[in-house]
Amino acid sequence: MTVPPEISITPLTPAIGAEVHGVDLGELDDATIRQIREAFLAHHVLVFRDQSLDRDQHKAIGRLFGDLHIHPSKRTLGAKGDPEIFTVKTDENSVHNNGGRWHMDVSCEEMPPLGSMLLLTEAPPFGGDTLFANMHLAYETLSDPIKELLIKLTARHDGLQDLRWYGVEPKPGQTYPAHSHPVVVRHAETGRPLLFVNEAFTSHIEGLSGAESDALLKMLFTHISGSPSLQCRVRWEPGTLTFWDNRCTQHLAVWDYAPHIRRGERVTIAAATAPAAFGS
Ligand code: SIN
Repeated sequence: MTVPPEISITPLTPAIGAEVHGVDLGELDDATIRQIREAFLAHHVLVFRDQSLDRDQHKAIGRLFGDLHIHPSKRTLGAKGDPEIFTVKTDENSVHNNGGRWHMDVSCEEMPPLGSMLLLTEAPPFGGDTLFANMHLAYETLSDPIKELLIKLTARHDGLQDLRWYGVEPKPGQTYPAHSHPVVVRHAETGRPLLFVNEAFTSHIEGLSGAESDALLKMLFTHISGSPSLQCRVRWEPGTLTFWDNRCTQHLAVWDYAPHIRRGERVTIAAATAPAAFGS
């Protein structure tokens, strides 16, 4: 019997992220897929270098983890292009870069995606990194009284808030998702608690006054963005594919490379369940 080679995993930080070596994502066997699944749950963000994948291969790898997600810009706003591919492109004419604020991808949906796989095809000579933060640790590093307060709360996630940040307004008759989710969520696979609010999509905490909600969210967003020990930073090259667990991480794409171009394609994996409250 042939024993499949072990893949090798190098953590990026103790908190989050790992580089996976010895894997050609175009040639996966069952044993390697199993090791990737384990590493994904352990490190939340996996970085694969030197991948050469066409679109169909990219989608097929995404489908190993679930159905493919269609972004609401394609579903409800009529944006053109392959519905299963989300294109990321920033050049010298861009006004905003995609994902330039801390966020979980489309947390405004009833079932925000399980995860995303972004493959960069063009990278600037330097810069253009993506920061990721671990939402399990974001929750665990809060004080007990604040944890007790948060565990009872729900928050509204409004897609329009994010859309407007990009200067986009739906046309008359077009809708964009908005949903409420628990502020502290149980991870669908590991059961671990995690903080589920983000600067891009979360408009307010329900049942609080506007001033209370703003103050609490500001404290939580500062905790996430201002705690480097929760984070890692992924450096990209053409052919780098990064697979993140959208259920328990947030990310921010740094735009520090103008006038250079950064381009890639993202395949996103749909979740099978909506975020459930921890403790429910
Ligand atoms: C995104 O928010 O999905 C984009 C991340 C990136 O471009 O690094």
